[in-house]
Amino acid sequence: MHRPESLAFPPGFLWGAATAGHQTEGNNVNSDYWQREYAAGTTVPEPSGDACDSYHRYREDIALLADTGLDTYRFSLEWSRIEPEPGVFSRAEMDHYRRMVDACHEAGLTPMVTLNHFTVPRWMHADGWWRAPRAAELFARFTEAVLPVVREGVPWVCTINEPNIIACGAGAEEGGANLVAHGLARPSRRVSEELVRAHQLSREVLTAEGIKSGWSVATQAIHAEPGCEEEARAYSYPLEEFFLEAARGDDFVGVQAYTRTFVGREGALPPREDVEKTLTGWEYFPAALGFGVRNAWEVTGHVPVIVTENGIATADDDRRVDYTAEALAHLHQAIADGVTVHGYLHWSALDNYEWGRYAPTFGLIAVDRSTFARTVKPSAYWLGQVARANALPAPSSPVLTEGAA
Ligand code: BGC
Repeated sequence: MHRPESLAFPPGFLWGAATAGHQTEGNNVNSDYWQREYAAGTTVPEPSGDACDSYHRYREDIALLADTGLDTYRFSLEWSRIEPEPGVFSRAEMDHYRRMVDACHEAGLTPMVTLNHFTVPRWMHADGWWRAPRAAELFARFTEAVLPVVREGVPWVCTINEPNIIACGAGAEEGGANLVAHGLARPSRRVSEELVRAHQLSREVLTAEGIKSGWSVATQAIHAEPGCEEEARAYSYPLEEFFLEAARGDDFVGVQAYTRTFVGREGALPPREDVEKTLTGWEYFPAALGFGVRNAWEVTGHVPVIVTENGIATADDDRRVDYTAEALAHLHQAIADGVTVHGYLHWSALDNYEWGRYAPTFGLIAVDRSTFARTVKPSAYWLGQVARANALPAPSSPVLTEGAA
C-alpha cells in the first residue's frame, strides 16, 4: 500500500501553544480563584502563588515558542487585573496585555487572545458570578474596555474558554458538591444560558470592530456503553452540543479535546481500570481530537474549527510526542474528510498551575518551581518541526486505530 511521505496540512495553518492568565502569571490576588485558594477550609490542594511568573517573563515564553518553530500563541487576559473594581479599568494593565500582543509580533508569532479563561474578579464573584444580575452585560462592558488590546493585530479572539466546564462548576455548586473532577457534575442551565448571552453580547462588540471571534468548547468524545445511546445523547446535549449550537454563525469554533467519556445507564463512568491514564487520571485517548473536531463541525453547521487546546499531562515527554502525533493524524484525517480547520494550538506552552495542583505537567516547556527557569522539552522542538514543515512526518504518522471514521 502506498504510504505518503508526510501528512501535509492546509497552507497558512496556525501552529502554536496556549496558556491562561491565572495558570501562568502568578499573584492574581484579585481573582475569585485566588480567593478560593486561600479560603478557610478550602478544597484546593495547592495555591497558585507565583505560578510561572509569566506576568514578568512573558517575553521569554514568547521567544522560546518562536524559537521552536511554532507561529501562534494563545493567552488570556486576566479580568481581575484589568477591572479590579466594578467599572474601574486599569490603563496600565491593558498596556501590559497590549505589550504581550506586540511581543508576539516582534517574535513573529500570531497572537490569539482569550478574554475569559475561567477566573473573574472577586467583586463579580461576590455579585453572584455568572448568576450576577446582568452578568452578560458586565462581560460585554469588559469586552468594550479591552478593545485597545485586541483591535489591531489580533486576528482571532476567543470570548470565553470552556463555557461548558464553567456551567458544570455552577452545576456542582448547585448540587452542593464538587463533582467536576469526576466528570459527574451536570451543567447549570441558568449559567449555561447566561454564558451564551455573554458570548453573544461580546461577539457583537467585537464584530462591530471587524474582529473575528468564537468561543472554545471542552469536547468530550462521548461514547455510549452498549444499549445506552439514548442516555449518552441526553448526557451530551447540555454539556457539549448546546454550546456548539451557540457557536453557529461565529467566525470560528474552538475545539479543546483531551480524552473520552463513557456513558452508561447512570450517566458518565470513570475511566476503565485497564486503560493507560495520564497524570490527570484521564484515559490516554488521542483520537478524542478527531471526535471533537467532527462533532463541532457538524453541530455548528460547518463553522471553521481552530483546535484551541489539545495535550496530555505526563512526566514522560516521549509519550507527549506519541499522543500529539496520533491526535494530529486524526486531525489530518478530519481535514481530508472535508472539515475546515485553521490551526492547532497545543495545551500547554508551559508546565503550569493545573487548577489546584502543579503535578499534572502539560507543558512543552518545563518551569523550575523555585527559580522559574524554563527548559524547552524535546516535544516542543518536535512540534516546532511539524509547524515548520506544515506536515506530520511519515515515520511518526501512526496508523489510525480508533475514531478515524
Ligand atoms: C482548560 C485548561 C486546563 C486544561 C487541562 C482545559 O480544561 O482550558 O485551563 O488546564 O484543560 O485540564
